Amino acid sequence: MIDKQHLLNSQQMAEFVARGFLRFDELVPAEINEAVMRDIDRQAIKGAPAGTPLSQCYAGTALRHMLDLPAVQGLIQSLVGEDPLFDHDAIHVREPNEGKAQGLHADSIIDLRTHFDIQLMYFPHDVPLEMGGTLLLPGSHFRRVNEMDVAAYQNMRGQIAMVCKAGTLLALHHGIWHCGRQNKTDRRRYMFKLRLNPAVRQLRLWNTQDLEPDYQSQREIYTRNARDGGVQDILSRREPWFEAASGRLEIVNRIKLWRFLTGDNEFDVHYWLGRLENKPA
Ligand SMILES: [Fe+2]
Repeated sequence: MIDKQHLLNSQQMAEFVARGFLRFDELVPAEINEAVMRDIDRQAIKGAPAGTPLSQCYAGTALRHMLDLPAVQGLIQSLVGEDPLFDHDAIHVREPNEGKAQGLHADSIIDLRTHFDIQLMYFPHDVPLEMGGTLLLPGSHFRRVNEMDVAAYQNMRGQIAMVCKAGTLLALHHGIWHCGRQNKTDRRRYMFKLRLNPAVRQLRLWNTQDLEPDYQSQREIYTRNARDGGVQDILSRREPWFEAASGRLEIVNRIKLWRFLTGDNEFDVHYWLGRLENKPA
């Protein structure tokens, strides 16, 4: 069990619920990044059968050292539990001057679970804009689609092109829309992806110390969380691609996921879900 100080806090979890990803810039130290690059070059990275506990994967390798970093353990534990299951991994390569980008997609067939897998994306070397890092569409994780069925969409408002330094990690909800951008340099680009399945119920797995006092009073929580930076505030924020009115559908989706993660079935954001549940007998 990792020390609580390394777990995510409620603001970070709310960000994940709202946007479907968390980004950790330059989290992994240079010596591990360089060792992982050497392992990639000599094709020494070997995954495990699907369903293997993550603690049993990559023994003695640089990737194991990356996964054992307290901050990495903390974010994994917060999202999918202490010892999630290895689903699959992949070293994604974008060839130099490849001439095309990958189509926008989600990494699954339509998957309507509230329980979620995460995909860790690890960038072991610098990724400048012209190298075409992963592109993702924040907040798209509730729009469950079938693989490449959304590939016709291009340049969605609010999309993020990953430009980052070596050692950066992304933790993605499995539903998020993303793709590999075109690499316009003369160097290969690598990204290591690791999909993890939860092995425990995803219920308050993060450091909820900052949440507990709010739960003593529902009235109080609505007041406190509506403040800037509070959970309600984070779950209310719009993405540029949301429909013109207010992004209500996405806010309702976020409320449902927040209720699932906290076990608080009364939680609401400005009555958006409560209104739909009002069914007087
Ligand atoms: Fe993908």
